Amino acid sequence: MAEGDSLSLLRTLPEHSISLVLTDPPYHATKKQNIYGDTAFAEDQHYLDWMAEYAIEWRRVLRPNGSLFLFCDSSMAGRLEVRFSSYFNILSHVVWTKPNDPGFDGWKGKMKKEALRQWYPHSERILFAEPATEGNLNRSHFGQFLREVRQQAGLTMHQLTARIGAHGKVNHGGAVSNWEDGRNTPSREQYQRICEALVETGKVAAMPPYEDVIRVFTMDASKEFTDVWTFPSVRPYKGKHPAEKPAALLEHAISATTNPGDLVLDCFAGSGSTAIAALKLQRRSVSIEIESSWVARIAARVQDFCDMESILKSEQTCEERPLRVFKYQPAQMVLFPVAK
Ligand SMILES: C[S@@+](CC[C@H](N)C(=O)[O-])C[C@H]1O[C@@H](n2cnc3c(N)ncnc32)[C@H](O)[C@@H]1O
Repeated sequence: MAEGDSLSLLRTLPEHSISLVLTDPPYHATKKQNIYGDTAFAEDQHYLDWMAEYAIEWRRVLRPNGSLFLFCDSSMAGRLEVRFSSYFNILSHVVWTKPNDPGFDGWKGKMKKEALRQWYPHSERILFAEPATEGNLNRSHFGQFLREVRQQAGLTMHQLTARIGAHGKVNHGGAVSNWEDGRNTPSREQYQRICEALVETGKVAAMPPYEDVIRVFTMDASKEFTDVWTFPSVRPYKGKHPAEKPAALLEHAISATTNPGDLVLDCFAGSGSTAIAALKLQRRSVSIEIESSWVARIAARVQDFCDMESILKSEQTCEERPLRVFKYQPAQMVLFPVAK
């Protein structure tokens, strides 16, 4: 984890090194005095320009098959989506709604409903996106990669389709043309056949593993599969971060979009909830926070988590890979130990 301004630090991270950016910047629209940066922008446009600088860096540091979750306020979500569309394919516009128990739904009690001039914004938004590339219909990195490697192999779309037996009913190139246009992606088995067909030509030496080219999206019937997410907010407790996000929501996002061992980046770490969720799921984490008091809290939380882990799983202890917090200096980054 690192302490400092995340935009400066982000610019020092290597490109294509991160599998998931999961981050919750100041919302700007909520104007909370107790969140650093929430009142920093006089105009919405300045906030959007600042976020666009992050978008450029996030696309650079993300692996081409990586993902982004960006928390935002409903009043900024549309404009952020348009701005981010220059760099990302927006895949879902998640609405997070909070079924808070009576006694913890303060907004309901406080609200003078007769004074409302619009529907009360009872949800937060989370943009879910993948890095975009140019060169095909749906700006798909995999589509571009497949086209290049197929051409290198000297095969037409028809020839590759015939070799892997993936004839589609709709258009002539079948599944291959759909994949190259970024309409969808091959299954693991189909990708295996693509690799064999391309390598057999003798013009392609080797193909990367499935995990390195296809964006992770793991879903099953037991999980919340729609773009409306229902997770209660974090109940107030002494020392709670004013914008702390629920662990269950973060784990839902991380488990669907990463594999164990993948690197998850949070540029606005707050209480460190993303880092803890990532470690709990055996992912690795890079967290950046500007306020030293919160950095100290994150360090303590992560240390507690690691201590608990090492008690539960005695083969690896945090003492072997001690956690250190750095003040921001370029090229000084420490990754949290991977929980095995
Ligand atoms: C909305 S809160 C994040 C809360 C977090 N998701 C959690 O669950 O605790 C935003 C955080 O970003 C931090 N922050 C604001 N501007 C920053 C910057 N330029 N670089 C790094 N952190 C920043 C704030 O101090 C605040 O803790």
